[in-house]
Amino acid sequence: MSLSAILDPLNDPADAMPRQQQLYRRLKEAMLDGRLGPGARLPASRLLAADYGIARNTVLYAYQQLQAEGFLLADRRGTRVADLPVLHGLGVARPVASHAPAELSRRAAGLALRQHEPLLPFAPGVADLNAFPWAAWARQLQKAWGEVSARQLAYAAPAGEPRLRQALADDLRARRGVLCSPEQIFVVAGAQIALDACARLLADEGDTVWLENPCYPAARSVMQTAGLRAVHVPVDAAGMAPEPSLWESQPPRLVYLTPSHQYPLGAVLSLERRLEFLRRIVAANGWIIEDDYDSEFNHARPGYSPLPALQGLHADAPVVYVGTFSKLLYPGLRVAYMVVPRWAAREFGERIASLYRSGQAVEQRALAGFIESGALTRHLRKMAPIYRARQAVLRRELTAAFGDDVEILGGDAGLHLTLGLPAGEPDQAVIAKAMALGVTARPLSEYCAAEVPGASRNGLVLGYGMAEEKRIPELVARLARAVAADA
Ligand SMILES: Cc1ncc(COP(=O)(O)O)c(C=O)c1O
Repeated sequence: MSLSAILDPLNDPADAMPRQQQLYRRLKEAMLDGRLGPGARLPASRLLAADYGIARNTVLYAYQQLQAEGFLLADRRGTRVADLPVLHGLGVARPVASHAPAELSRRAAGLALRQHEPLLPFAPGVADLNAFPWAAWARQLQKAWGEVSARQLAYAAPAGEPRLRQALADDLRARRGVLCSPEQIFVVAGAQIALDACARLLADEGDTVWLENPCYPAARSVMQTAGLRAVHVPVDAAGMAPEPSLWESQPPRLVYLTPSHQYPLGAVLSLERRLEFLRRIVAANGWIIEDDYDSEFNHARPGYSPLPALQGLHADAPVVYVGTFSKLLYPGLRVAYMVVPRWAAREFGERIASLYRSGQAVEQRALAGFIESGALTRHLRKMAPIYRARQAVLRRELTAAFGDDVEILGGDAGLHLTLGLPAGEPDQAVIAKAMALGVTARPLSEYCAAEVPGASRNGLVLGYGMAEEKRIPELVARLARAVAADA
């Protein structure tokens, strides 16, 4: 192929890249896709510069860079393409059509396709970000930046900043009845990472994990891509409800539970079942992962603390307690933590340190200050009645708009309610219509395991964290229009 076919676009005014970059890229692409074969001679830099009306230094930059990378060779006779046989045929190694599906791993193929969700009212899983205590948080951040030295810009302490681990141990003991000392706490970049660590450090490929059905989809993704065999266990009004025979027929290595507020149906795991799970998991030589993602608000019994953590029933039970600041503060903070049993802490700590690198030492210090100063407790106290009122108004408006045709599930705790829909109104289609009207929700069907025939449920998971109370009636009216449009 002639060099001009490769280089003529250099004068394309639409290409905003600097000329030296353009020249470098065009030559490199031509060598990689075989248009400039091994041994092909390139013109002297002076001539090429004159032909294209560019500075000689521009050409020298591109030639020297390609020489440094090993693509070009230069000697007394001039510059030529290096004789690398592997360059032959490289051009056919990739699909040409940009729309061709990329072939990722089989694990990746099992993952649901997920787009970034717009932050519309009723998006679940988000606290009221408008009510975020900016000033108190900024003060703690500023203080933390004032205290740190260059050292804190390196990787953070593998298990988390000691001050945060201490503050968390005190807070969790008082607020959630978690029995732990700071050595048992591991700070990680989100509950998602905590679940990943559990899947990798506590189970082996092919081991059985029990998942709630319906279940937090991200937990299912993590467990399945770690190569675990999922058993989807139904949920009733008292939480995960395994048939007693399941313990013998498919004993779990891991059981993933959201005991305080089942996600997404909202059930609270009964005390009887909590005790039964603890008794059985010991016998099965397995582990319980307790995801305590949004238990802070008790709407059913205002003023009382919510049901304490399952972990607190027995200090030495094989339970990993997982908590996150995504709902208390903001999801972009990416700070969560796991509490492992005393007897497993040392081993766990050594292994987790080689799995992930930790960071955000400054934010972790700020968070410790935020907890120690009482700002977190004040924020929770301020938000509890606000969320409770939103929950009540949302329930009232849903009942008024949808009547007795639909069931409203959950809502005793947390930041969401789940609305069951009749089968004729598929949740995905309703949500597509709702989004056009400026509201959203997450389809309940997305939480259900596709592998279990007949267990799929139709409905909307509605978060009220970002829905202002006075706007709820009008927002529900829009939802009702979306449902009616689909009927
Ligand atoms: C059940 C459950 N666990 C955990 C999380 C939050 O995880 P992260 O800390 O990764 O934001 C969510 C968020 O929606 C959730 O619904």
